[in-house]
Formats: sequence, structure tokens, C-alpha cells
Amino acid sequence: LPSHYTLPSGDKIPSVALGVWQASKGETALEVGYKHIDGAWIYRNEEEVGQALKESSVPREELWLTSKLWNTFHAPEDIEPALDQSLSMLGTDYLDLYLIHWPVAFKKEGSNILDENLTADPYPTWQKLEELVDKGKIRNIGISNFNIRRVQNLTANKLKYQPAVNQWSKENGLLLEAYSPLGSDKQVGQSLSVPEVKDVASKLGITPAQVLISWHVQRGTIVLPKSVTPSRILENLNVFELPQEDFEKLETAATSHPPQRVVNPSNGWKLPFDVFDGQ
Ligand code: A2P
Repeated sequence: LPSHYTLPSGDKIPSVALGVWQASKGETALEVGYKHIDGAWIYRNEEEVGQALKESSVPREELWLTSKLWNTFHAPEDIEPALDQSLSMLGTDYLDLYLIHWPVAFKKEGSNILDENLTADPYPTWQKLEELVDKGKIRNIGISNFNIRRVQNLTANKLKYQPAVNQWSKENGLLLEAYSPLGSDKQVGQSLSVPEVKDVASKLGITPAQVLISWHVQRGTIVLPKSVTPSRILENLNVFELPQEDFEKLETAATSHPPQRVVNPSNGWKLPFDVFDGQ
């Protein structure tokens, strides 16, 4: 299975990352060979991740660090200070990838006050990110939680740099990054006990989590499993090529057991309109 994918910039992104939402455990992950850490400003653990990086002997250029711009910092003048804060907490002077965390902009005052203009048109936010690429503080820029409609809304502008990845949904030319690949905390039991997943796992003598993670990589997706358990952190980095018949069985299972966790930001933040336009 591919250990890396190539982004439009030519940079190679490792196919399996440690997702650190509600976690950090960067130390364990680095010890067992993870090179890709998927974090975000809002996870409130960039300092801990930075500490783990400092204590590890892995050279910075061998690591892939992703962070995400929080909703309250979409105004062009707020972006660089927010990025600088993440950089300083992580103890680095550049990010490999910086994503717009959600297709939703809040006013800086926070408390979920919607900035309607920047939500409707994220181009000013994107232009500032492009500028920060040119300044050398970010190597690649992308998006997260954008559905196809929202991606098109952004790419309708004449962009200097196209979004390199999208976490969650997929569009042509954009690499998909799958967060919560095991179903996230609440549904993890459910995904790991899907009969097809269990069957393939026992047939191949690997764990259900390894089946799901391997299936993602075999589909060409970057996969971001989260764990705070050292044995699982190690287990999740070991992916296996699945025999074609098992791969196909899982492809079918994916549509016959539709995802239980579909995140629409309009519901979560009770926005006055549907950012996903009913799609
Ligand atoms: P924990 O962090 O306590 O080890 P997702 O990546 O989809 O968000 O899923 C994260 C959830 O899946 C967490 O509850 C995590 O538990 C659990 N998890 C992670 N790796 C495994 C594994 N290999 N087997 C079983 N559960 C796992």
C-alpha cells in the first residue's frame, strides 16, 4: 500500500497519520514511527504535541505537521497571528499543511457570531493563506469539512494555489483525508463490529481497526486514526494490502452500512442557513 501520496506542490504526505483530536500522545506515536500528526488550533493540545516533537529525535524535515485555522480567525488580518500561535506552540517555523477547519467564519469576538460575508465567500481568507505559502510559513493549504458545493464556491475564484486536500469530502484533484476513520469515539464499537469488517479481519488475522485503516489507504485516502492507547497507536500504523475480493466486500459494506456520523456545521452551530445547501 502507498506509504505516501504526492500533493500538487510535489510534497509527499504520509498516508497514515495520528489524529490528535481529544488526544495527543505524540510521544508514543513518534517512537513507533508515525511521521504525520494531524492537529488543529482548536484541539487545545498543540503545546503538548510541540513538547513531544521537541523530545523526539525525529528531524523536522522528516515530519508532516498539519494544523487548522479556527473559525474565529478567517478575517485576513487575524490569520497570520493565529498561524504564528500554532507555530510557536508546536515549536516549528513552518507547517506542512494548513487547513481551513470549517466552511464557517465567525466574528473574532467568538461566541459563534457568524461572519456572513466570509462564510459565503472564503476567497479573502484563501488569498491570505496563499500569501503565507509564499512567505514560507506554510507549505500546502487545504480545506476541511467542505462539501462539494462549498469547494466549488472557493475554486470558482482564480486561485493561485488550489486546495491540496479536503478532509471529509472529495472533489477531483483534491486528495481526501479521512478523519474519524474508525467512527469516532461514540460509534467506534459499531464500525469495528460491522460483520464484513470482522470477517475480513479474522480471515487475514489482523484487527478490525487495521482492516478499516488499510481499506482507506487502498482507496487512495489519507487516513487519520486517533488513539491515546499505545498498543492501538502502534497497531493503527500497520496497514496491509487487502486481497481484491476482501477489498470489494468492504466497498459494498461501506454503502450498505451508511455512515452514522455525518457532520453538518449548520446543525452543530445552529446557523441561520444550511452551509451544505441541502446537498
Ligand atoms: P482510544 O483513543 O481510547 O485508544 P477515530 O479515529 O475514528 O476518531 O476513532 C477514535 C476512537 O477509536 C477512540 O475511541 C479510540 O480509543 C478508538 N480506537 C483507536 N484505535 C483503535 C483500535 N485499533 N481498536 C479499537 N479502538 C480503537
